[in-house]
Amino acid sequence: MIIQPIIKGQVAKSCHPLGCATAVKDQIAFVRQAEQIANGPKKVLVLGASSGFGLASRISLAFGGAKADTIGVAFERGPSEKGIGTAGWYNLISFEKEAKKEGLIAKNFVGDAFSPEVRKSVVDFIKTEFGGSVDLVVYSLATGVRPDPQTGELIRSSIKAIGEPITGYTVNLEKDCFEESTLGAATEKEIEDTVKVMGGEDWEEWINYLSDEGVLAEGCQTFAYSYIGSELTYRIYHEGTLGQAKAHLQKTSDALDAKLKEIGGQAHVAVCKALVTKASVFIPAFSPYILALFRVMKAKGLHEGCSEQMQRLYRDCVYRKDGKVLTDENRLVRVDDWELRDDVQEEVRKIVAEMTPENFKELGDYEGYKSDFLKLNGFDLDGVDYAQDVDIEAM
Ligand code: NAI
Repeated sequence: MIIQPIIKGQVAKSCHPLGCATAVKDQIAFVRQAEQIANGPKKVLVLGASSGFGLASRISLAFGGAKADTIGVAFERGPSEKGIGTAGWYNLISFEKEAKKEGLIAKNFVGDAFSPEVRKSVVDFIKTEFGGSVDLVVYSLATGVRPDPQTGELIRSSIKAIGEPITGYTVNLEKDCFEESTLGAATEKEIEDTVKVMGGEDWEEWINYLSDEGVLAEGCQTFAYSYIGSELTYRIYHEGTLGQAKAHLQKTSDALDAKLKEIGGQAHVAVCKALVTKASVFIPAFSPYILALFRVMKAKGLHEGCSEQMQRLYRDCVYRKDGKVLTDENRLVRVDDWELRDDVQEEVRKIVAEMTPENFKELGDYEGYKSDFLKLNGFDLDGVDYAQDVDIEAM
């Protein structure tokens, strides 16, 4: 079968298994040659391990110096009569293959991280085949829906503004154009539901469960990821529904930190840079900012992808020689520092102010944005022969 990219709106409806394998290998090659993580963890659980920051965390911790055994949990679809499956499915398989070549344990659980069954399977595996405990738990889920822990009813998150609606431009990846879109104003219920889905509740449940089951090692750390961004995007993100969920995540990290102190451990939220991931392309009115940001950060030699961010996070901010986690005054670990540099933001502001549907490809880095999106789905990668027949069964 010859596989072509199919994009509908902001969603990729196809993925290329060989391209996904190449993308994973490229990320591994990057972290191998990067400055290494010293004193890293040895047994890591990554929730949301199949793409974006979760996959990059797993790759950094396995191949970027720590040589960690890893368990990855993700919600992905394999090949079936309905289609090829999702990119994350192939990312998981490729990661596992590469890690095993290295003699590392790499176990994947494909299922709903919110479900008690998945939690139990993970804990059983830790107890029986993973040495009994983990010393790092990475929480990197991004999802629009979560079953209510009590009733099982589905709760949906909303990407909305709080207060007045906002109208701005959004890239349409299918048509390669800039379209006006409106970020509606959230109701109280929508805010509450977004916090329930994307806030810290499930992270806390996972840590409590792992702790009750006695599988958190002495000194265990846990991290979840957040975004703050600059004033240019505050109304869209930081002061919107997602920002409320992230505030909850931050509050949760304080509660978890207090709990983990009992075993000499810690909990933190790491604030990351804006990047193209399956989740972030959905944020309406956010694209002008990210296109301008990529243009400016690339020109200044400051641009990072998920792997660069995660390697820097764990090497320079977490597993440091002095044993201290580097945080700001709010206990947040900031790897969004380069994005928020004054000189970067000043140039981004100018570009965003001038961006229109006619000039966004010249002023912003649309080429890089689109290429990153295609790469997430295994397309547009060097070294892959897209004209060749792909045998999905053999993956
Ligand atoms: P992503 O969409 O690339 O990855 C999300 C992961 O969650 C995937 O592995 C997916 O399979 C998994 N997942 C979703 N629902 C699940 C479920 N029910 N059960 C098990 N696994 C499930 O997302 P991305 O962008 O890497 O986001 C991860 C975290 O990083 C989020 O908290 C996000 O807010 C944060 N972040 C993202 C930024 C960005 O620009 N993309 C910037 C800063 C923070």
